[in-house]
Amino acid sequence: MAEKKIVAVVGATGAQGGGVVRAILADKGGPFAARAITRKPDSEKARELAKLGAEVVAGDLDDVESLKKAFKGAYGAYCVTNYWEHFSPEREAAQARALAEAARHAGVQHVVWSTLEDTRAWVPLTDTRMPTLMGKYKVPHFDAKGEANRYFTELGVPTTFLLTSFYWDNLIFFGMGPKRGPDGKFAITMPMGDKKLPAIAVEDIGKCAYGVFKKGKEFIGKTVGIAGEHLTGAQMAAALTKALGQEVVYNDVPPDVYRSFGFPGADDLGNMFQFKRDFQKVFCGARDVGFAKSLNPALQTFDAWLAKNKQRIPLE
Ligand SMILES: NC(=O)c1ccc[n+]([C@@H]2O[C@H](COP(=O)([O-])OP(=O)(O)OC[C@H]3O[C@@H](n4cnc5c(N)ncnc54)[C@H](OP(=O)(O)O)[C@@H]3O)[C@@H](O)[C@H]2O)c1
Repeated sequence: MAEKKIVAVVGATGAQGGGVVRAILADKGGPFAARAITRKPDSEKARELAKLGAEVVAGDLDDVESLKKAFKGAYGAYCVTNYWEHFSPEREAAQARALAEAARHAGVQHVVWSTLEDTRAWVPLTDTRMPTLMGKYKVPHFDAKGEANRYFTELGVPTTFLLTSFYWDNLIFFGMGPKRGPDGKFAITMPMGDKKLPAIAVEDIGKCAYGVFKKGKEFIGKTVGIAGEHLTGAQMAAALTKALGQEVVYNDVPPDVYRSFGFPGADDLGNMFQFKRDFQKVFCGARDVGFAKSLNPALQTFDAWLAKNKQRIPLE
């Protein structure tokens, strides 16, 4: 049997990278081996990945030398940064730059960079529809990733730019599940009006990324977008009602109200939803469900995801 090509996976102990590692390992006869990169090789999550068959290697996005070592000998790399750990677009961009530098240094032949739009291409800072945040961003956790695309391009790293989507898993982990309102009804709150939100089961991001690696050079230098379904808030609420056996309504609020909710990142997420609402054609257009399915034939719909995960959604 030919030797397997190593795919080094950043964020392997997390949602996106974990999905990539599991997708690689599930394809036992497939062409790739998984190398899980983590700051904490002794953590329980890292040990679980080792048990599944991944090679676990230390690496820190804030330390380019550690990434160079972690990428050594790898054919591919799945690269993701975690904005929500530090809320700093500058640090996120620096981490992306370190990834690009390390990939170039190690001669990685295919990077899949988990990115998002630099929304300022559609909403310049002079546009007063939404506030400018941190002095020079509209949607900091999007803009930093989009701006960082250029590091991969400028350094000549063979890269597929993967536009991910909102995870349905946010209903479990990110405080976006149904909440009981003053009228006693459960509601999901998003400032999306009647527009569609492209979203996906996070495990499917990993499977789609695996599909990109399997395609070889086909998507190198290209931007590809994925989603499991495009649904309105009302459609999501109806699906939740059916799955949970409990009425859930869609609470559409103006973006200004969402931005004022006061939790960390509320202004960033308010701008994000407003961007998705006001540029639906661009945003949905960049995330084709049929294309995602071509990369990952097991792509889940929202109903399928709910059937598996409904017990995990907290009703508060
Ligand atoms: N939630 C959504 O709907 C959504 C949608 C699209 C995109 N995103 C983006 O997804 C990103 C987060 O990805 P995720 O959800 O997979 O994260 P996650 O589940 O919270 O896991 C974070 C991962 O990043 C790793 N990590 C963080 N800082 C690191 C560092 N300095 N060095 C090495 N590894 C580091 C962690 O590894 P160790 O702790 O083991 O080192 C962990 O594996 C965010 O940037 C967010 O903007 C989110």
